[in-house]
Amino acid sequence: MRLTLLDLRRIAAERKIAMLTCYDASFAGVLDRAGIDSLLIGDSLGMVIQGHDSTLPVTVDDVAYHTRAVTRGSQRAFIVADMPFGSYQASPQAAFDSAVRLLQAGAQMVKLEGGEEMAPTIAFLVERGVPVCGHVGLTPQHVNRFGGYRIQGRGQAATRIRTAARAVAAAGAEMVVIEAVPESLARTIAAESKALTIGIGASAACSGQVLVLHDMLGVATDKRPRFVKNFLLEGGSVEAAARAYLTQVQSGQFPAAEHVYPDSN
Ligand code: KIV
Repeated sequence: MRLTLLDLRRIAAERKIAMLTCYDASFAGVLDRAGIDSLLIGDSLGMVIQGHDSTLPVTVDDVAYHTRAVTRGSQRAFIVADMPFGSYQASPQAAFDSAVRLLQAGAQMVKLEGGEEMAPTIAFLVERGVPVCGHVGLTPQHVNRFGGYRIQGRGQAATRIRTAARAVAAAGAEMVVIEAVPESLARTIAAESKALTIGIGASAACSGQVLVLHDMLGVATDKRPRFVKNFLLEGGSVEAAARAYLTQVQSGQFPAAEHVYPDSN
């Protein structure tokens, strides 16, 4: 039986949620057997599957294609699909049209990046039956504005990220990914959030963790972000690596201090 949002809330009351990105049916089967709670068809597929240097070229067709494959390959994991760049920013109606295609492909929730500026869109989607996951902090679709993939929310910028997380949850997002911010900020957001918080380079205090599958298997070889851990080295097989990730997320062992960001360098 596939997990629902209610199941994830129940799980979060007892232990941490383990999420990984996934893009195809074969890996979806392995990760499902390992007990990973949620699979994210991330627009990171633009980089790790398609070979682009950002997520920006990814289309709704691309995400829908991979969502269908992951859904066919898994039975239990909760399926979240990314709304790619340009598919939701122009208007709430545009976002709804994109979300419909991803839900029809098998997603149970869609993820979009941004803060207060996306709140009306999130409310529009939620009111029409689309569960939404927000994404704050290092939002990769903003790479050109950030001038690279770098930690966000240090110093005075912390308030902006905290406000963004509050705004998306207040608009009705049931989950929010917090990416690459200081650990203390992520911990604060996790403590005050009514949405489930999923960290990546954030804090072990979040409701759960996510990593890009290729990163945690050591496949992506160019510059490795601080928050990545190679679980294949410990596991010895893909399924064992996923189990090691699950166990270490559940126990709070991952992320360790070396995988999160201090307040300053
Ligand atoms: O696209 C993606 O894989 C993501 C995760 C890094 C959270 O957004």
